[in-house]
Amino acid sequence: MLGARCLLRALRSCSSAPCPRPKPSAKLSVRDALRVQNASGERVKVQGWVRSVRSQKEVLFLHVNDGSSLESLQVVADSNLDSRELDFGCSVEVQGQLVKSPSKKQNVELKAEKIEVVGNCDPKDFPLKYKDRPPLEYLRQFPHLRCRTNALGSILRVRSEATAAIHSFFKDSGFVHIHTPIITSNDCEGAGELFQVEPSSKIKVPEENFFDVPAFLTVSGQLHLEVMSGAFTQVFTFGPTFRAENSQSRRHLAEFYMVEAEISFVESLQDLMQVMEGLFKSATAMVLTSCPEDVALCHRYIAPGQKIRTYVKKQLFNWGVDLHTEHEKYLVKHCGNIPVFVINYPLALKPFYMRDNEDGPQHTVAAVDLLVPGVGELFGGSLREERYHFLEQRLARSGLTEAYQWYLDLRRFGSVPHGGFGMGFERYLQCILGIDNIKDVIPFPRFTHSCIL
Ligand code: 4AD
Ligand code: MG
Repeated sequence: MLGARCLLRALRSCSSAPCPRPKPSAKLSVRDALRVQNASGERVKVQGWVRSVRSQKEVLFLHVNDGSSLESLQVVADSNLDSRELDFGCSVEVQGQLVKSPSKKQNVELKAEKIEVVGNCDPKDFPLKYKDRPPLEYLRQFPHLRCRTNALGSILRVRSEATAAIHSFFKDSGFVHIHTPIITSNDCEGAGELFQVEPSSKIKVPEENFFDVPAFLTVSGQLHLEVMSGAFTQVFTFGPTFRAENSQSRRHLAEFYMVEAEISFVESLQDLMQVMEGLFKSATAMVLTSCPEDVALCHRYIAPGQKIRTYVKKQLFNWGVDLHTEHEKYLVKHCGNIPVFVINYPLALKPFYMRDNEDGPQHTVAAVDLLVPGVGELFGGSLREERYHFLEQRLARSGLTEAYQWYLDLRRFGSVPHGGFGMGFERYLQCILGIDNIKDVIPFPRFTHSCIL
């Protein structure tokens, strides 16, 4: 084990020694190259994939993209250059001088001195075509290639920025990040939408479970977060969750990412709603600042007319039957197409962990959903039943007492009022980008009858 001082010393000794040799061209990402102000012939090297090739009498124009930005870098080369292998889609390494571009379309361009084709691409066979803006549905057939289009490039960059923004929000608000397990022996939501986990080839006794008990892919990290909220007052997790829902809908996946938070000493839904609202607003503001061009591309070409709306809070009370997509759409429209919180659902419809409101004649629990335009339910949350006897009765009614002894223990040993929520990350991206189908906001969608790659 290294002590802190040893570790620092070791790190320092790792830094590269000064090198007397002449500096090779600096390697720049396309994004950084495009940001150079007052370019004056700096020698640079750029690597990426060719997005267009245009040959004129004396010059050859290339556009090279490396995924670091929506905009590609224009490369200008002498037409004497052997360009036989330079095709749309091939990978290249270009060395040259970064200069101010005479065209108004871009700030800088790269005057090529050397272009090396790293990997060829035959445009006849390549399913993506130059200048095409194929529909997202068409691109879904090519999960191994679609990230090379502007549309998926922008969506996936936003996804990456939104992930960082969500982590920042929680870090800045004092939450502790918990890695909740992917394999679990509980069904948090009790909806029976579990994928069971067993080795592909049976070990030892075929009828035995690998873990001795039936084990599943998690449908939610909530119960594990509740354990942690008995020691840390604010915790969150952000990871993959799995549901064996037999749905081909445009808002369901079998594997999706969920952002979940659990907060101790919370006694009202209002307090929870404030955190939900804060998370949505803060993450969205950060995404808009860090990649405005990518968001704009989605709004302009993929979901024309869609704008991120001002976030206004309204409350609706509803009970009786569960809300279906059509009801959710109606509620959101009825409220003027803005995000809407729905609170206090019928106890009979909700899982055992939600706090009993002890009201009547409609018996409700302290649950809250946030419905948003175009998507429907984005967040689901609740106050948790922290009172031992209430919980004991609810578990007994569902025949879960034995399996949830540990959960009851949390109410025996220093129980506190607490609550939390989960936000579907893909639905969040659909909402801010206006993307109709959830399969287009995740790199590799998994849903019934489909697990490509
Ligand atoms: O409403 P849900 O089922 O809530 C829970 O799982 C709670 N245990 C969370 C918590 O309180 N910690 O799921 C939360 C959110 C939904 O509102 C929805 O946005 C998303 O997860 N979601 C899905 N997203 C994509 N595909 C699916 N099959 C989804 N199921 C739920
Ligand atoms: Mg829900």
